[in-house]
Amino acid sequence: MARILLGITGGIAAYKACELLRLLVRAGHEVLPLPTRGAERFVTAETFHALARAASSNDPYPHLERADVLVIAPLTANTLAKLAHGLADNVLTEAALAHQGPLVVAPAMNTRMWEHPATQANLGVLRGRGATVVGPGDGELAEGEVGAGRMAEPAEIASVVARALADRASPNPAGSGFLSGKQVLVSAGGTREPLDPVRFLGNRSSGRMGVAVAVEARRRGAEVTLLAANLAVAAPAGIEVVATPTAADMERETAARAAAADVVVMAAAVADYRPAEPLAAKRPKDGEPWSVVL
Ligand SMILES: Cc1cc2nc3c(=O)[nH]c(=O)nc-3n(C[C@H](O)[C@H](O)[C@H](O)COP(=O)(O)O)c2cc1C
Repeated sequence: MARILLGITGGIAAYKACELLRLLVRAGHEVLPLPTRGAERFVTAETFHALARAASSNDPYPHLERADVLVIAPLTANTLAKLAHGLADNVLTEAALAHQGPLVVAPAMNTRMWEHPATQANLGVLRGRGATVVGPGDGELAEGEVGAGRMAEPAEIASVVARALADRASPNPAGSGFLSGKQVLVSAGGTREPLDPVRFLGNRSSGRMGVAVAVEARRRGAEVTLLAANLAVAAPAGIEVVATPTAADMERETAARAAAADVVVMAAAVADYRPAEPLAAKRPKDGEPWSVVL
């Protein structure tokens, strides 16, 4: 049984935190709910305490409760920003600063908030510190818009929490510097091959997989270099990032660095074809067909 601090912040997905809490309690864990005022606009603190089967704490220092893992689900853009910058203006953010174990967060917000560079940069900061980010998924959001921002399902979050607890307890090397002193080179994203200075042939790779590999390698103590081809997700902090927008860039940087690396993970989607003769100037829109030899 583990002791879990469960932060709940002010998003509509706060109602899903009830199911998450139930799953964690059913798995035998002691759960201390820490809803923000924002969360309480959606679900009362009493609901969380009832599901946790615990009266709300009279502890004069509730933010200093020790726990095996801190889980925040849903995580709002607001609290994410506070975490990234170390603010401590409510019990949850105070607890986050005092917490010394693993952090699992499940962001949930409107797609436009999610895609904002500030949100992505804040997420990169958390990832760089070793936080595990679950989701968000794509789909229809509560406000009716469609896109990324839906909180991961409670069962998925619960299984990520179980893994974080197992990593912590296990004598195996995860999280204990297993890759300490190793150089890990990871490629991520999708290359873009210029047709002219403004147009390109690309692919739909987001870079999410390669970034996750890089974060995990860093968490295990490696010195990580990320060859980044047009990432759609934030590059994590604490990792050397080399921009490799085209296949030629990727080839050159990989060749220059692979020999010195202990591990090379090639997760990028590199173009198989490139325009034989990219144009030096933007081709005007003239209504004529445009044939390109690859
Ligand atoms: C109906 C409604 C739904 C909201 N849903 C979200 C959300 O899903 N994600 C988010 O980041 N903010 C959402 N917000 C905004 C947050 O509630 C607001 O930023 C608040 O300050 C968050 O406080 P907290 O992070 O301390 O809980 C919503 C606001 C309203 C009124």
